[in-house]
Amino acid sequence: MTARKIIIDTDPGQDDAVAILLALASPEDIEVLGITAVAGNVPLPLTERNARIVCELAGRRDVKVFAGCEAPLKRKLVTAEHVHGKTGLDGPQLAEPTMKLAEGHAVDFIIETLRREPAGTVTLCPLGPLTNIATAFERAPDIVGRVQEIVLMGGAYFEVGNITPAAEFNIYVDPEAADIVFRSGAPLVVMPLDVTHKALTTRSRIDAFRAMGTRVGQMVAAWTDFFERFDMEKYGSEGAPLHDPCVIAYLIEPHLFSGRVINVAIETVSELTLGMTVADWWRVTDRPRNCLFIGDLHADGFYALLANRLSRL
Ligand code: RIB
Ligand code: CA
Repeated sequence: MTARKIIIDTDPGQDDAVAILLALASPEDIEVLGITAVAGNVPLPLTERNARIVCELAGRRDVKVFAGCEAPLKRKLVTAEHVHGKTGLDGPQLAEPTMKLAEGHAVDFIIETLRREPAGTVTLCPLGPLTNIATAFERAPDIVGRVQEIVLMGGAYFEVGNITPAAEFNIYVDPEAADIVFRSGAPLVVMPLDVTHKALTTRSRIDAFRAMGTRVGQMVAAWTDFFERFDMEKYGSEGAPLHDPCVIAYLIEPHLFSGRVINVAIETVSELTLGMTVADWWRVTDRPRNCLFIGDLHADGFYALLANRLSRL
């Protein structure tokens, strides 16, 4: 089977970093055409820097990293240093990247790639706010029909919000962008908190990363150690949800995941519920079923895949 061509759109973020490593560790399944950074967990100068750090960690200085949008379409940027630390990759000591940022804007890269590659052969993997993707769709509507699939991390329904009582962070930061993507008609798979909160790091799972005895294993263990303190305090859980790697794991082993094809609409008006993904899980409306909304995963299988692939780097 040929490797799936993807663009990773990201706001690293420790969990984004693990997702990028998983993709780069799986060349038989995934060909990363490029990485596009967006403002989210931390401002854009840090998310693009962090994406380059992760590529160098994976020994992949050849990967093109582009800087994208530095603010949401219509709102002030909200960041998440309280979760990810000041740099976005807090935890281990990290050297500044030496690989260069790719020339050109991330949005232009997304448009040009989708126009160049055969229609239906490029998957978009957004792991942060959807500003870059929505800007590309608005600027070049012809590319929407050329997208093979969008597999994104964002939203929540039964799990409710993590940045407000109603909204998950990626959607909340740029609800107008999310509304454009969810209405676009592109084939959409959504990894909400409903599933990512079942992908919890536990002591034994983090120890398995550390036991790899590699620099990647050490980094991933240090990142998850740092990243989990916030969720454990807030939810009293045994570990932290590894949100973004669920997107990449789905591309490699979709059978680990299950969900329902339903309508999901985005709240863009009410300040009280801004950014909420209103998921018609029980199909009580006749709104178009615009996405596969994932609700569950085989967590042990997910972590076995992670450990197996990351140990290659
Ligand atoms: O709500 C979790 C999401 O927000 C993850 O993608 C995390 O990296 C942050 O971007
Ligand atoms: Ca992210």
